[in-house]
Amino acid sequence: RMPPVSQCYNLLDFEDIARQTMKKTAWAYYSSGADDEITLRENHAAFHRIWFRPKVLVDVSKIDLSTTMLGCASSVPFYITATALGKLGNPEGEVVLTRGAYRENVIQMIPTLASCSFDEIVDAKQGDQIQWLQLYVNQDREITRKIVQHAEKRGCRALWITVDAPQLGRREKDMRSKYDEQAANVQDNESTVDRSQGAARAISSFIDPSLSWKDIPWFQSITKMPIVLKGVQRAEDAIKAVEYGVDAILLSNHGGRQLDFARPGIEVLAEVMAALRQHGYEHKIEVYIDGGIRRGTDILKAICMGAKGVGIGRPFLYAMSTYGETGVVRAMQLLKDELSMNMRLIGATKISDLDESFVDVGSIATH
Ligand code: FNR
Repeated sequence: RMPPVSQCYNLLDFEDIARQTMKKTAWAYYSSGADDEITLRENHAAFHRIWFRPKVLVDVSKIDLSTTMLGCASSVPFYITATALGKLGNPEGEVVLTRGAYRENVIQMIPTLASCSFDEIVDAKQGDQIQWLQLYVNQDREITRKIVQHAEKRGCRALWITVDAPQLGRREKDMRSKYDEQAANVQDNESTVDRSQGAARAISSFIDPSLSWKDIPWFQSITKMPIVLKGVQRAEDAIKAVEYGVDAILLSNHGGRQLDFARPGIEVLAEVMAALRQHGYEHKIEVYIDGGIRRGTDILKAICMGAKGVGIGRPFLYAMSTYGETGVVRAMQLLKDELSMNMRLIGATKISDLDESFVDVGSIATH
């Protein structure tokens, strides 16, 4: 019934197989977006509006995909982003991603709402493997302080604070499906929350909607990890992030799961890079994007437009849910193959070669 993993030729193949084989509840939670899922759809479609301007007659016999993100070495300019509830898709949960990431030298971001405990995910790390922490800020700041300082002590190398989710979005597909109670082990207040609104809402009631810019210095005072704001969506906030001394921003709409009609990250990137350059800030902060990245060409477009790296969510969940660690490794290898081939075809041999001259973003407004 399941084709061998070698028959998956790109990341979208994993999604097709996941749709056909995953438990309904798990598929609903992973695949859903907010409201009419317009942002979810556009996240990937937006890449179709950007074209390449290849260079010819460049010696491309050797290609180097390696880079650094937040001071961390990586074999590629993409990372596994934080996605909650790994055990919905695979009984072993997030540690499957950890093992796959080790084999391919890819950085993993650990979600606050993982199914495995934080320590299980750190314990699954091998060698000098790199992990980051995604943080949902608790109304009880002591809990948050403990999570952050524990993560730093356990070797996490960056803190990604999610700022696009003061309230979880309405994912109706998820709400319609029943929350699989065994699959998730999550928060202490879990047993007291109302599950009728689906998995997402059931687990998020502790998130602090009062979080604001004035809290940023507090985070800077409790950790030495670089701080990234996950979910910035406009140039003015990118400028503010620089002025608050934040290390990086992630332009993201949470994979289309929060505000419907939020713009795709790749479109926000054009606006943000233009504003940073205007203020002379382009070297003061690293910029990342996520959402809808499924192809090597998507990654190259983002890097050419100024991103330091990109996050990938659902494809690794689908790979993990269908073929386990083997699937995760295969998905990463496919992306590496695509990246190498496409670098050759545009006439670039290393990540630092990539710049705006390689893309035609004509139809994207920069404000
Ligand atoms: C997410 N995302 C997310 N983000 C976050 O900050 N904390 C979280 O707990 C989660 N959980 C989560 C679960 C699932 C099932 C998905 C699909 C996504 C958002 C995630 O980090 C990222 O922004 C998007 O997944 C990127 O889009 P793609 O690659 O999935 O299209």
